[in-house]
Amino acid sequence: MNVTDALISRFTCRAFKPEPLKKKMILDILEAATRAPSWANTQPWEIFVAGGKVLENIREAFIKNFHKDVPRAPENPVPEKWPPDLKKRSEELRAERLKILGLKGNDPAALRANFEQNARFFRAPAVIYLCLDRSLTPWSMFDLGLLAQSIMLEAREYGLDSAPAVMLVAYPEIIRAELGIPENLSIVFGIALGHADSQSPLNKYRTPRRPLREVIRFQGF
Ligand SMILES: Cc1cc2nc3c(=O)[nH]c(=O)nc-3n(C[C@H](O)[C@H](O)[C@H](O)COP(=O)(O)O)c2cc1C
Repeated sequence: MNVTDALISRFTCRAFKPEPLKKKMILDILEAATRAPSWANTQPWEIFVAGGKVLENIREAFIKNFHKDVPRAPENPVPEKWPPDLKKRSEELRAERLKILGLKGNDPAALRANFEQNARFFRAPAVIYLCLDRSLTPWSMFDLGLLAQSIMLEAREYGLDSAPAVMLVAYPEIIRAELGIPENLSIVFGIALGHADSQSPLNKYRTPRRPLREVIRFQGF
């Protein structure tokens, strides 16, 4: 698969087939993905991968918290306010997803159903957790983003799909306890990995992008 095909075929998969993944395949993906650049080659990432019974324990505890309405508390704060045009795009995404689920946006049950899929990690057989030492700055967060996309693109090489989601780290204390993640590491982000369930309507939608003429300013060409 060439890079353009990987870029274009990656999407946020919100329904996985439960079939387990081989550890070797995940290792190979991570070996290539950790070629990602980082500030002065500091390679700040610490990676934890959960599958099998360990992931089921985390998933079960997440679903329990979700049903008890335990407030979600990712370690990296979620923005309270977005600039209006960004907010509009995220609302459009939410509306499209609810439409696919056959739900109405003003229906509280709709939002719950949407969040429940997240709390189930979209039934993925593996989740990769990306962590950083708490002392690091946004530059290392930038490095972690480069790694995250590299993982998702390399996953395409193996025919795998992925879901990057803050909801996967909504209850960090559950993940920390189950995986024995030390306190000095912040559990920043999660990527669910697996084979997409191509029958699921959730996987049929492809998100739009802003027109390039609005995003890019060339000068001197
Ligand atoms: C930092 C970040 C957090 C995200 N969190 C969630 C999430 O919690 N739940 C979810 O369903 N998707 C989540 N997504 C996926 C985005 O909604 C998705 O990337 C975006 O809508 C573009 O769609 P695409 O990935 O299919 O191209 C997240 C993506 C990123 C990069």
